[in-house]
Amino acid sequence: MTDAAITRVHARRVWDSRGRPTVEAEVTLADGSVGRGIAPAGASRGSREAIDLRDGGARLGGLDVRQAVANVNGEIARALAGRNAHDQAAIDACLIALDGTPNKARLGGNATIAASLAVLHSSAASAEEPLWKRVSEGGAVSMPLPEIQIFGGGAHAGRRVDIQDFMVMALGATSFAEALEMTAEVYLAAGSLMKAAGKLAGVADEGGWWPVFDANEEALTMLTRAIEHAGFGHDAMAISLDIAASEFGTVAHGAGRYVLGLDKRQLDTSGMIDMLGSWLDAYPIVSIEDPLAEDDEAGLVEFTRRYGARCQIIGDDYLVTNAARIEHAARIGAVNSALIKLNQAGTVTETKAALDAAKRSGLSALVSARSGETEDVSITHLAIGWNAGQLKVGSFARSERMAKWNEALRIEETGLAPFVGKSALPRKN
Ligand code: PGA
Ligand code: ZN
Repeated sequence: MTDAAITRVHARRVWDSRGRPTVEAEVTLADGSVGRGIAPAGASRGSREAIDLRDGGARLGGLDVRQAVANVNGEIARALAGRNAHDQAAIDACLIALDGTPNKARLGGNATIAASLAVLHSSAASAEEPLWKRVSEGGAVSMPLPEIQIFGGGAHAGRRVDIQDFMVMALGATSFAEALEMTAEVYLAAGSLMKAAGKLAGVADEGGWWPVFDANEEALTMLTRAIEHAGFGHDAMAISLDIAASEFGTVAHGAGRYVLGLDKRQLDTSGMIDMLGSWLDAYPIVSIEDPLAEDDEAGLVEFTRRYGARCQIIGDDYLVTNAARIEHAARIGAVNSALIKLNQAGTVTETKAALDAAKRSGLSALVSARSGETEDVSITHLAIGWNAGQLKVGSFARSERMAKWNEALRIEETGLAPFVGKSALPRKN
C-alpha cells in the first residue's frame, strides 16, 4: 500500500452559516495525513445543479442530511478505500460512476463534494503543500479580484428587494489586501448612510446589509453614494450585480415574464433587457450575473449582444458549473463569464473541467461560495491555485465569509501569487 492510499473515509453532520445541517467528510491516508471538506448549500439554485440531498420530513425543516452522511460512511467509504488520494481524477470518476445519475441525485451532490474535497485536502497534506500550491500543479497562480456584497436581497433577505446581490469590485486596487481595505470603507459607508436614512434592518444571509428600500433602483443610488462617500471614483470602485433572475422570472412558450414585486412591475424579456440597460447607463456597473432566467437563452444572447462589450455577463443558474453548458453558451454568445461553484458540479474534477472550459472558450470566471457556508476555505485556495481570476464569497461580515477573505491575505503574503486586479474582467472590445 502506498503512503497516499485511503485508509478511512468518515462523514459527520456539521452546521452551516444558516444553522442548517450539512455534510463534512474526513479522509485519512496510510501515512496518517488527514483532509476535510464541508459541503456548502445554495438558496437560489439552478434547476440543473447537482442535487443537494436532504432527508425531508418534519425534523429540521426537512433539511437534515442523515442519508447523505450515511452515503459517505457506507458506499463512498467502501468505494474509495485503498485508492490513491493523489489521483483526484480517478477518485472523482469513481464517485460519479458510483452515483450513476446525471446530477448526483442518488448519493447527493453534498455527499460527493464533501468526499471529493476531503480527498483533495488529504492529498495536499500528504504532499506537505498548501492546497493552492497543490492544485496549481506547477502552473500559473494568481490572487483573484474579489467581488464583495454590500446589500443582500432576493432569496437571501426575505425577498425584501428582488435583485439578489448588490456588490462592488475594487478595480483600482493594486493588491488583494488593498481591494479588501477599499471594500471595507464602502461597506462601512453604506451601513452609515442606510442607518441615517432609516433603511437598515440588519444583515442578510451572506453578511450584506439587509435593506429597507422602496425600489430596486434605490439600492443602486445608495451604493453609488456609498462608493462616493468612501472617497472612491468610479474607476477605482465599481458596482457588480447578481440579478438571480430565475428567482422572479420564468419562460413560457418562448416568452419571458419577470415579476419585480418591490417595484410592482411585470416585464417581458425585452423589458428586462431595457431596464438593466438603463441601469448600465446610469450607474457604474461593470458586471451582471444571471440578468435573465436560466431558460431565457434567447434573452441572454440578446443581452450579451447588446452589452457584452461593456459589461461582464456571468452565467450562474444558467451554466451550473457544467463544462458542456459553458462551451455551448460561449458558442452562442449567451454570456462572457462563468460562475464556478463546487457543489453545483459535485466533484472537484468536474468543477475544474468547468473552469477550464470557460478559459478555453474565452470567458472570464469567478470561483464562488454559496449563501450557506462554513469555515471551509477551500474555494480561496482553488481560486488562487487554479488561476481563476475572480472570487465571489458574499459580503464583508460574518466569519464564514471573512475566513475566506482572510485566508487569501495569508496566501498573498507569500509573494508567490500576483494580484490580477481588473485585468480579470473580460476584455473590452
Ligand atoms: P445561492 O446564491 O448560493 O443562495 O444559490 C448565490 C448566487 O446566486 O450566486
Ligand atoms: Zn448567482
